[in-house]
Amino acid sequence: MYTAGATVCLAPPVSSLRADARRRLKIGPRAAASARRSDGRRPEPPARGPVQVHGAPKGGSPARSTAAMAAGGGEVKYIHSKESTKTLLKSEALYEYMLNTMVYPRENEHLRELRLITEQHTYGFMLSPPDEEQLLSLLLKVMGARNTIEVGVFTGGSVLATALAIPDDGRIVAIDVSREYFDLGRPVIEKAGVAHKVDFREGPALPILADLLADAGNEGAFDFAFVDADKDNYGNYHEQLLRLVRVGGVLAYDNTLWGGSVALPDDAPLTEVDRGIREAIRAFNARVAADARVEAVQLPVADGITLCRRVV
Ligand SMILES: C[S@@+](CC[C@H](N)C(=O)[O-])C[C@H]1O[C@@H](n2cnc3c(N)ncnc32)[C@H](O)[C@@H]1O
Repeated sequence: MYTAGATVCLAPPVSSLRADARRRLKIGPRAAASARRSDGRRPEPPARGPVQVHGAPKGGSPARSTAAMAAGGGEVKYIHSKESTKTLLKSEALYEYMLNTMVYPRENEHLRELRLITEQHTYGFMLSPPDEEQLLSLLLKVMGARNTIEVGVFTGGSVLATALAIPDDGRIVAIDVSREYFDLGRPVIEKAGVAHKVDFREGPALPILADLLADAGNEGAFDFAFVDADKDNYGNYHEQLLRLVRVGGVLAYDNTLWGGSVALPDDAPLTEVDRGIREAIRAFNARVAADARVEAVQLPVADGITLCRRVV
């Protein structure tokens, strides 16, 4: 189930793109759902913007990787130089390499079990990928986070990653409109021995966050918030969470590059749903970029993650 503003809409009841396919295409969950065609056939992957690789000239002409140049007998350039753009190629092989080298071998057994269960679900593509869970986990530990909020729980992948990363007396207020999704993952969270840290609240997040704010004791009481729900409301969540998360705490927003669509031309061929989300995400990114209350960074990890540290 997805929500657009206050409107709850059902995703089309057709088979989903496999989670790994979505991950490879780097498209967001809602994009993947909406990318399905009404005739039931698998859609074309979304158009991508130009990609530069290390060694490609800035402003540049067709990118060639150092390896490709070497293989082709061309001039081999330094990977980093003043002529190159420091960005990563969106390469499936590179992503597989990263998963196989650093992510899967270190994946917690319960997170893996939950991932495999969730991938069987029609909307399993909504789960955050394991490299993202790994990043959240490390961040939470580095911060020494104890009390957190999660907006958009689904089956609980990122909640479990959080629960495993915070101390035994830590707490996650985990909000989702659907208890049914969460009930799928709950047994794994219980098996992992961290269910006591999860305070699941069912319902639309805006009024639940408003309820939290009604208690003055909750102002600045949280160390971290992860937002991964309806994109139209990211700006509203930002305002509420800036009061709930302490100065020095972190607000993390998922899907802030929306499959790369934010950088596509305005008239790029997108579904109506994706165009709407793309505009919501663009507006949110512009808002954060101009927000002096936070120090922000945009990470090109997974579908794009924006980290905001509250500074005032
Ligand atoms: C992408 S999924 C969350 C994935 C999860 N964070 C993870 O890493 O596995 C988005 C979730 O947001 C929930 N959601 C959508 N709109 C919401 C709203 N207004 N309030 C609360 N939850 C909402 C959906 O029910 C869905 O479970």
